[in-house]
Amino acid sequence: TEAALQAAFDERIDADGRIEPRDWMPDAYRKTLVRQISQHAHSEIVGMLPEGNWISRAPSLKRKAILIAKVQDEGGHGLYLYSAAETLGTSRDEMLQALHSGKAKYSSIFNYPTLNWADVGVIGWLVDGAAIMNQIPLCRCSYGPYARAMVRVCKEESFHQRQGYEALLVMMKGSQAQRDMVQDAVNRTWWKCLAMFGPPDADSPNSVQGMRWGIKRISNDDLRQKFVDATVPQAEVLGVTLPDPDLKWNAERGHYDYGAIDWDEFWQTVNGKGPMNRERLATRVKAYDEGAWVRNAAVAHADKQAQRALK
Ligand code: 3HC
Repeated sequence: TEAALQAAFDERIDADGRIEPRDWMPDAYRKTLVRQISQHAHSEIVGMLPEGNWISRAPSLKRKAILIAKVQDEGGHGLYLYSAAETLGTSRDEMLQALHSGKAKYSSIFNYPTLNWADVGVIGWLVDGAAIMNQIPLCRCSYGPYARAMVRVCKEESFHQRQGYEALLVMMKGSQAQRDMVQDAVNRTWWKCLAMFGPPDADSPNSVQGMRWGIKRISNDDLRQKFVDATVPQAEVLGVTLPDPDLKWNAERGHYDYGAIDWDEFWQTVNGKGPMNRERLATRVKAYDEGAWVRNAAVAHADKQAQRALK
């Protein structure tokens, strides 16, 4: 019966076991996972765009090779994640349709422009750094396919974070103009990265249930604090200033205090009115439309193979 299935599911969750695609699961658990995993996949795919803009303008062959590899990794992450979501019974077409129509969310951070080369380094250091902070606990998510995908994603993200930080270290040893570029990129990106972790716990409608189900292991605010604490010493080594006058060590809490995040601006961006939302979506839709002939050719090839197999 349904009650017995629910009880077995609850017991598995309480024992910190994994749920696999063929296991019974409550509809709401399935829905939450499809929501989060598809949003995560969309973020990876849209996340290719701000940095992709710089591939043709990378300052050296080495930087270009690194950047191409990194952007390609993000595409790979998107594909694993779409596959993980498909195991829950939703089709890739449905997910893409939701993205292309503007119905689906994806990470707020990718709706800001990349104005100079230092943005590429800062995305690696701060954006990918924040992404890893959020993704490491997802390796222990209760849904098996998502958790397993995250293991490889996190390894690749770690490379992304390091290449960004290293690129910035090199720029900071260069000319004053290069140091200014790094500081400018940090100033524009810092607050957006803090918002990436999602609304404060008290205003996060999905958190309580997500934690109960073992999808979320660490709360939005706790991850944000961990990110601030880890990043301040890195900024010192780099020699940049984080643009927050309220940022200071609080010995009593054993953490850095930080200033107020502009949540109005965050929600505007999440709801489609950020500086680059329209351009990002238009670029994705165009890429999808222009790829139609590849998908058609693959289907035609598969049909031909199937017909040959019948003969
Ligand atoms: N951008 C856009 N929307 C966001 C957001 C953000 N930064 N943070 C929260 N939201 C949305 C949520 O999706 C939710 O909307 P919904 O109910 O319509 O789906 C709403 O705001 C309320 O937030 P909650 O805290 O209640 O939602 P969650 O419990 O789902 O927590 C989350 C939000 C922490 C982002 C969680 O979904 C999560 O951990 N997702 C997986 C990680 C992920 O998506 N990362 C994407 C960025 S990193 C990346 O893409 C890699 C990079 O290297 C390119």
